Amino acid sequence: MSDTSPRQLSVRIFRVRPEQPAEGFFQDFQLLETTGMTLFIALNQLREEQDPTLCFDFVCRAGICGSCAMLINGRPGLACHSLTANLPPRIILAPLPGFELLGDLSVNTGKWMRGMSERLQTWVHSQQQRDISRIEEAVEPALAEQLYALDRCIECGCCLAACGTRQINRDFNGAVGIAKLSRYYLDPADKRDTAQYYDVIADENGVFGCLSLMGCEDFCPKHLPLQVQLAFMRKKMLEFTC
Ligand code: SF4
Ligand code: FES
Repeated sequence: MSDTSPRQLSVRIFRVRPEQPAEGFFQDFQLLETTGMTLFIALNQLREEQDPTLCFDFVCRAGICGSCAMLINGRPGLACHSLTANLPPRIILAPLPGFELLGDLSVNTGKWMRGMSERLQTWVHSQQQRDISRIEEAVEPALAEQLYALDRCIECGCCLAACGTRQINRDFNGAVGIAKLSRYYLDPADKRDTAQYYDVIADENGVFGCLSLMGCEDFCPKHLPLQVQLAFMRKKMLEFTC
């Protein structure tokens, strides 16, 4: 007869205060697994029942806001989308590396994403005054699909945490930056010429810095075509120099 009693989970969590980074330590918690339990549910239960000082981020609980990304048994992932049933009974949680630490599992991905956006200018550049009474020009369905696919980025930071290049070069803009910029390169509403793109992305912090280790695409929870976009932008920048 199979054992139907709930699993006892051991959750080891990295605890740290940003003002005392050298004093970080792992703390062990125990809880019983329930049906359909995600790490979001488990962490909230631990905070409510065992330690109200536990620090972690959640907003949507639906894989949309990107705020719950963390290292789950050493791999970047979204806590709200991680069923404990798919994990071993011993779970180790740590904050995403490479971002400003706010405490325990909470990191400031938003600050980094904003900085990247300003460096790469990831917005539509157009001289035209926007006339909101005019109907927007139609975009070919195939191109609209491509833009939509890239717009699905939730800025979770998993691709950066999984990126070997970023661990070596802290200024690397990562797959998220390159994919975002490629989205505007493809968009007919953006009136920049290739030279303007070249200025912001054609260096060791952009398309020529990537070592092609491909961790970004393996760990992107939204399955964005990161490698295809990197190859596309690299090709366009190389063509520009020829
Ligand atoms: Fe997250 Fe994917 Fe966007 Fe990277 S590209 S920030 S992994 S959604
Ligand atoms: Fe929003 Fe997990 S809570 S993606």
